[in-house]
Amino acid sequence: MLDSDDARGAEAVVSGCEYHGRRAVVKVRPPKTYRHPELDLHIRTTRTRNEARLLREARDAGVRTPCIYDVDMASCSITMEHVPGGSVKDLLDSDPGSAERVCGMIGETVARLHSASVCHGDLTTSNMILTDDGICLIDFSMGCSKASLEDIGVDIRLLERAFTSAHTELSSGFDALMESYYSGIDDPDAVRRKVEDIRNRGRYT
Ligand SMILES: Nc1ncnc2c1ncn2[C@@H]1O[C@H](COP(=O)(O)OP(=O)(O)OP(=O)(O)O)[C@@H](O)[C@H]1O
Ligand SMILES: [Mg+2]
Repeated sequence: MLDSDDARGAEAVVSGCEYHGRRAVVKVRPPKTYRHPELDLHIRTTRTRNEARLLREARDAGVRTPCIYDVDMASCSITMEHVPGGSVKDLLDSDPGSAERVCGMIGETVARLHSASVCHGDLTTSNMILTDDGICLIDFSMGCSKASLEDIGVDIRLLERAFTSAHTELSSGFDALMESYYSGIDDPDAVRRKVEDIRNRGRYT
C-alpha cells in the first residue's frame, strides 16, 4: 500500500494512478542529474526492463507479483496493478504476534521464486505486501534470472539481515521462515552452506 500519494525511494518515484478504470500505480525512474547522462539512461532503462521482466518471470513461477499494465521505456516507467494490503514490515512492526503465520508464508514464497532460479536482489520485508491470498513480492529491479547458488545465498543473507536489523525480536519467526523455505527448495544443504559461507565472509571483511 502507498503510504501517501507518492512513495519516494532513492531511485524511483511510485504514485497512485488509474489504468483503464483500474486502480494502478506507476513507478518512474526520473533522470538523475548527478550521473553522466549516458550512464544515467543506461541505469534507468536497464533497471526498468529488468524489473518488468522479473515481475513476469516470478509470476510465471507462481509467485504473486503485481500485474504489469504498461512499460514505457521513454520515461523509464512501469504501470502496474495496485496491490491492496500493507507492507509485511509494517505488519510485523505493529503485530509481532502475526510473525509465525506470515513468516511461513514468506518462506514458501521465496522458495518458489528461487526454485524458478529467480533472485529478488532486495529481499526485505518492505518489498513484500500481505494480500488476502498470500505474500506479493514487489521491487525486482536489482534481481536476476538464471540465478546462481551465490545469487540465491545473497538473497537469503539479505533477508536474514533484514530480520536481525529491523525485526530483532522475531528470531523465532525467522526460524519458521527458514524452515518453510528449506522444505520448499531442491537442495537445502547447498543453500545452507552458501549462506553460512557468505555470513562468514561478511564477518572477516
Ligand atoms: N504495485 C504496488 N501496489 C501497491 N503499492 C506499491 C506497489 N508498488 C510499489 N508500492 C509501494 O511503493 C513503495 C516503493 O515501491 P518499490 O519498493 O517498488 O520502490 P523503491 O524501493 O522506491 O524502488 P527501487 O528500490 O527500485 O529504487 C513500496 O514499498 C510500496 O509501499
Ligand atoms: Mg522497495
